[in-house]
Amino acid sequence: MKKISLACTNVPLKAYLNVFDCLWSGRLGRGKYVQELEERFANYFGAKYVIAVSNGTIADIVMLRALAEMNPGRDEVILPALTFIAHANAVLWAGLKPVFVDVDDDCQMNEAQAIAAATTKTLCYFPANLIGKQALRANTKLLNVSIPLLEDCCESMGGHGFTLTRGIRAMGRFGLAGSFSMYPSHTITTGEGGLIITDNREFAEKCRSIHNHGKRNEDFDFDYLGINGKMTNLQAAIGCALVDTIGEVNRKRRENVAYLCKELGENFKADAPHCFPVIYENRVRRDAALAKLADHKIEARKLMGCIPDEKPFTDRFGHYTNDFFPNARRIANCGLFVPIHQNLTEKELFKISYVLKLTR
Ligand SMILES: Cc1ncc(COP(=O)(O)O)c(C=O)c1O
Repeated sequence: MKKISLACTNVPLKAYLNVFDCLWSGRLGRGKYVQELEERFANYFGAKYVIAVSNGTIADIVMLRALAEMNPGRDEVILPALTFIAHANAVLWAGLKPVFVDVDDDCQMNEAQAIAAATTKTLCYFPANLIGKQALRANTKLLNVSIPLLEDCCESMGGHGFTLTRGIRAMGRFGLAGSFSMYPSHTITTGEGGLIITDNREFAEKCRSIHNHGKRNEDFDFDYLGINGKMTNLQAAIGCALVDTIGEVNRKRRENVAYLCKELGENFKADAPHCFPVIYENRVRRDAALAKLADHKIEARKLMGCIPDEKPFTDRFGHYTNDFFPNARRIANCGLFVPIHQNLTEKELFKISYVLKLTR
């Protein structure tokens, strides 16, 4: 029985040709494909500046450091308690303080709590468009205030959102900047890879410097605490061949989500879905479901963690009492996700829905 995996890769002929050209050129680190990728994504998103980086975690860290350089004295970052841990780890690696707020039933950050958590030390709101769904509410108030908004779009490349004040636009284009990941389970993959997009020149220049050791120039003068977060020419050679495929990948994934919703009577919707979430009544039933899916060789995972309860965070900040993050804790304990990627066959989708029905 073939395993149904969570991730898949599609490698068009152009990617092979680009990689060959890249290897032949000897330019494996920096090179023309990195610049081409940045230009292609700038066009794709309609963004003024794109910085290609080595992965989504680095994109988050570099964005946060750039913003911190622009706002000395502000070091609190407001983010959802339920997220993928890399999102929250980035806050710590950037030397900042995470301020967690709960999520709503749809897994997205509770905006009223986010606004209530703001202080004079707040650096930014930092929601994530989890599972390819828009984090911001249509009537969001997070864009009406002077506190900048950074969007983590690592799970939502190519998705669009809507707010009353900004209309329809690509996720990552609502606030000051957005971060993206090209890890294998995401919309397109370069193995590892990431992007930062923004229209703000000063912010973009800081990101560009910080992801390159904090360099001011090629003479080894340094302005900022930097990191080596550069995307390689090899990664970019693959990425350049994939930009045009994003729309079709997301379309197929939405179709697969619609099929599972119909079969299971669920109403999950996401513009750039990267998985299909299922939330059970309790942890025992969720864990039994994970075991059943594994028996049938369907790769599935716990949905996401309640990050303040994860060891790296309790080690640093202690334990929160039971009153905190009820929704994030419930979803973390009771949620799982299954694959919906674009390469699933009809038979495989049927099997996923059939086995999920057995778990209910
Ligand atoms: C919400 C979120 N943020 C950040 C990341 C980090 O991206 P990467 O794996 O490319 O470092 C991920 C990765 O899955 C993610 O889901």
